[in-house]
Amino acid sequence: MWVISRYADVATALRDSRLSSRPSRYSVHSSSNRQRFPAAKVADHLLPFLDPPDHTRLRRLLAKVITETLVADFRGRIRQIVNQVLNPLLDRGEMDIVKDFASFLPVFVIAEILGIPNQDRRLLKEWSSWFFYIFSPMPSAEVYQRLNQAILDFSDYLRELVVHRRRRPQHDVISSLIHVRDELDQLGDDELIATCILLFANGEETLVHLIGNGMLALLKNPAQLRMLKNQPTLIKSAVEELLRYDTPAQVVGRTALETMQWHDRLIAAGDPVFLLLGSANRDPGRFVEPDILDITREDNDHLGFGGGRHSCLGAGIARAEAQIAIGALLALTQDIALVDDTLKWRDSIFLRGVDSLPVRFKKAI
Ligand code: HEM
Repeated sequence: MWVISRYADVATALRDSRLSSRPSRYSVHSSSNRQRFPAAKVADHLLPFLDPPDHTRLRRLLAKVITETLVADFRGRIRQIVNQVLNPLLDRGEMDIVKDFASFLPVFVIAEILGIPNQDRRLLKEWSSWFFYIFSPMPSAEVYQRLNQAILDFSDYLRELVVHRRRRPQHDVISSLIHVRDELDQLGDDELIATCILLFANGEETLVHLIGNGMLALLKNPAQLRMLKNQPTLIKSAVEELLRYDTPAQVVGRTALETMQWHDRLIAAGDPVFLLLGSANRDPGRFVEPDILDITREDNDHLGFGGGRHSCLGAGIARAEAQIAIGALLALTQDIALVDDTLKWRDSIFLRGVDSLPVRFKKAI
């Protein structure tokens, strides 16, 4: 396995068409397993696991639905969801930012965007917590069984919803996905279901950790936290800096399609190649004082959302959610501080984040 870690190399590799995104033959999601496991069948239709021309076709269709206008339209609803989750916590004086707050937002927001009825959202949270493991190349047998069951349950649920939306389209993304068309093309039913699963899976854990890591970084840099609280308009550049400083999606995986020269090394066809986004984002060859958190940083072309043809399609949604959530946490509390310094980091090389982030605070008046 190869590991690419410098900014310039990672940025180049993300755009190198000799590096494939298809699950490698070592992965449990490889196409050869598609008859045995629903997860492998779904992976066959998932944007992050496709190469051109399949990727180009599907991305073009999805990009017609997941647009900047969609994000702008949903900002008000995201604010309401953030307030609904946050308000009941404010009188307590203590909360766990990850468990009580951040972990609810991605599911509720994507459910809202897709148009999933309110009463079903708790059920979805349970399924959705397993979807993320579709990005794990070798999950444990127990996790894989749960992932496959969640996919089966969610697929049944969605098939019914799709029948309703076909009959009576609404102003939601499921209806748009059903109707999205190119000149010649549209999403098949399996693609539609895979895409809905993808939207839950991709945004779930990454976003929780952007909010968790982001708040942790601010709490450990109180001058930056004060600056942001006093100048809320800095929230946009602050979120970019938090993505760079403590990157939630640390690694993306690729496989070499052909034998290729990389500097003075030869990467053999079939070799797995890991691109370290987190490392690239701290590269002193690219960023001035990369280990310093500076929420006013201007030259900040970070790779927190990847780059090239697979760059994050949900980046606009993720940015809006993080800006609104972190902005609200700072605006609605005062004297916010960590309860203690013992943090448990997630046991993963792909994702960086804490499982729990207890803080105490006063309700802002
Ligand atoms: C902080 C939150 C997020 C982070 C850090 C993040 C990060 C990433 C990264 C690094 C990739 C590139 C993967 C690769 O190159 O193999 C990616 C792809 C993707 N992300 Fe995100 N993501 C976030 C939130 C979201 C959300 C909320 C959604 C959807 C609502 C989403 C949808 C997607 C999709 C569909 C792709 C695949 C694009 C493609 O393969 O063409 N992401 N994301």
